[in-house]
Amino acid sequence: MLQLAGRMSRAKPSAIMAVADKAKKLKASGRDIISFSIGVPNFLPGEHVYQAARDALSRDSGQYGSNRGADALLDAFLKHMQDLGLTGYTRANLSTGIGAKHILYNLAEALLDEGDTIAFPTPYWTTYADIADIVNARSLELPCPASQDYKLTPAQLDAALAAHKPKVFLFNNPSNPTGMVYTKEEISALADVLVKYPETWIITDDIYNRMLF
Ligand SMILES: Cc1ncc(COP(=O)(O)O)c(C=O)c1O
Repeated sequence: MLQLAGRMSRAKPSAIMAVADKAKKLKASGRDIISFSIGVPNFLPGEHVYQAARDALSRDSGQYGSNRGADALLDAFLKHMQDLGLTGYTRANLSTGIGAKHILYNLAEALLDEGDTIAFPTPYWTTYADIADIVNARSLELPCPASQDYKLTPAQLDAALAAHKPKVFLFNNPSNPTGMVYTKEEISALADVLVKYPETWIITDDIYNRMLF
C-alpha cells in the first residue's frame, strides 16, 4: 500500500480554518454568526498595488528569477528595514517566499532536528505548534496570561532558556491572537537576555509589524 512520509501522520488540519469553515456553514444555514476566526481585512489593496501588478505582468520576461526573490523586491525590503533603523544588511541576508506560514515551515525544517525544542510565548498562533509537530520538535510554551498583559518577561525568558536550552526561540509581535504589542524598551530587555544564549536561534514573526491600532 502507498504510504505517506511519517511526518504527515503528525500534520493536523488548521484549528483556525476548522472554526472559520464551521462559522461559514452555520451562517449559510441562516444562523446569525459573527466569526472571530480568520482575520480578514475589510478593505482591498490600493489601486496603485493592482497597477504595479499589471505593469509587472506587461514587462514579464518569462525567465527564471533568483531563488532568493527578485532583486527589486529584496532591495525594497532592505529599504523597509533601513527606514526602521535596521542597517548593515545586504541582499545576501534576505530570502523571500510565498507567505509567512510556508517560510516558518521552511525555517523549522532548516533549524530543528527531531526532538529539538522550540520555545514560544502562549497564547500563540496555532500554526507554531502544528509546524513543530510535523518536524517532530518539542514545543515549549511560555505562559503569558492576562495578568502579565500577555507579555513574556525577561526573567521568564531567562529561566526558560537556562533550563531548557531550546534550539529555537520564536517570537511574535504584535501578537496574534491577543493583539498585544511590546514597547521598544520591553523588546530591548528581552534582547538583552537572548544575547546570553548564542546557541539559541531567534525567529521573529513580525507579520503585523505596521498594523497598530
Ligand atoms: C502570527 C502569524 N504569522 C504568520 C501568519 C501566516 O501568514 P501568511 O498568510 O503570509 O502565510 C499568520 C496568519 O494568520 C499569523 O497570524
